[in-house]
Amino acid sequence: MSASKKLFIKTYGCQMNVYDSERMAEALGGKGYVETRSPDDADMILLNTCHIREKAAEKVYSELGRYKDLKAEKPDLKIGVAGCVAQAEGEEIMRRQPLVDLVVGPQSYHRLPAMEDAVRGGAKALDTDFPEDDKFDTLKKRSKAKRGPTAFLTVQEGCDKFCAFCVVPYTRGSEVSRPADRVLREARELVEAGVKELTLLGQNVNAYHGHEQGLAGLIWELDRIDGLERIRFTTSHPNDMDDALIAAHGTCAKLMPYLHLPVQSGSDRILKAMNRKHTAESYIRLIEQIRAARPDLLLSGDFIVGFPGETEADFEDTMALVREVHYGQAYSFKYSTRPGTPAAEKPQLPDEVMNDRLQRLQALLREQQQASQASMVGREVKVLFEKQGREAGQLIGKSEYLHAVYADAPVELLGQVRSVRVVANSPNSLKGELYV
Ligand code: SAH
Ligand code: SF4
Ligand code: F3S
Repeated sequence: MSASKKLFIKTYGCQMNVYDSERMAEALGGKGYVETRSPDDADMILLNTCHIREKAAEKVYSELGRYKDLKAEKPDLKIGVAGCVAQAEGEEIMRRQPLVDLVVGPQSYHRLPAMEDAVRGGAKALDTDFPEDDKFDTLKKRSKAKRGPTAFLTVQEGCDKFCAFCVVPYTRGSEVSRPADRVLREARELVEAGVKELTLLGQNVNAYHGHEQGLAGLIWELDRIDGLERIRFTTSHPNDMDDALIAAHGTCAKLMPYLHLPVQSGSDRILKAMNRKHTAESYIRLIEQIRAARPDLLLSGDFIVGFPGETEADFEDTMALVREVHYGQAYSFKYSTRPGTPAAEKPQLPDEVMNDRLQRLQALLREQQQASQASMVGREVKVLFEKQGREAGQLIGKSEYLHAVYADAPVELLGQVRSVRVVANSPNSLKGELYV
């Protein structure tokens, strides 16, 4: 028997890709692959890609180009492209980059073991189907190997919202929820392997309908799993925040007080053009309701500046919304034209205008994030310690609000939740002291 083969996976894009990469590694584990941290000693390189903005897609081609010499030295090296670029561009990838042996979409990666056989035999393999069979059933159980205290768990995939700028409905297909019993089984497997905190994933996770009471119903079932201490979920759409889910933020102790709820713009005219199907006002009212249920909730959001037709007044509406809502954390992007989406047909704004607006928005969001972090100093937070810090004797973890917190703590506390008093604030983390 030869030594195990090595697999190098590089992951781009959202958390769902992080989850998919784990599952792909496990699937190829059945073919004798173990993961390696470097492409140099790999027998297979897999890029799990993102197509959300132009830059994300271009990164894939530049990364592939870097493997040219490696492949020349090692003719047995197989190179694969997975994820959303694979789904969107399919065969085009092999035409543009002949180094690529294998292209697999996000809904068909359970077929990777068979595809691996094909490429080992010298063929090229492409599968970007949206198959009828459930990939999760084929993938079966999660590995029993001991793992870190946090994990992602995909419960819903795809999107039926068709925001005018977005490729996700095309790359991930229509909305599908995994049945609650399967999710619960996987959750238990993860908890048995040492997981204390689960982040439920979906492109529209709060549209989950695999439980008759929706996402809230699933959260309450997870709440009953002994050993599971924290539950999070991402990403949500404002129109799918139902009353039960809002209420759970106030009543479910394991559900953490952090919510990522993208709004994209504060201008009703632009929201309409984006096909978001909500207004700035309805979003603000919704935030009020959620904060009434959980006053200390830390809110996060996504914003796009420079959507086609956005005027200075529209942009000012976005700034006004941000000032009113007050975010603890946020992501903001320049609009990027995505081929095949409705907005791609419309005239684009000049780059200078977009750059200027992005800078102004980011300055405001940064100010709010800093204010939110500074307000934590002196407070007690609960930290789930995830790993060792850079300095000896230090551990790093996340507060319930998802702030990174580091503190002097014995290594035995890894994987445990402890009370910490926040004593200082730096740009990307908080410093804490353990209560003894
Ligand atoms: N399902 C989530 C987000 C998916 S994509 C939601 O509904 O909000 C993550 C973020 O990328 C989006 O919230 C949006 O802010 C940004 N994004 C998506 N398409 C984009 C595009 N064409 N240009 C710039 N940003 C985009
Ligand atoms: Fe994209 Fe809109 Fe669906 Fe989010 S809700 S994934 S932004 S189409
Ligand atoms: Fe990117 Fe696909 Fe996620 S486009 S953001 S990897 S769903």
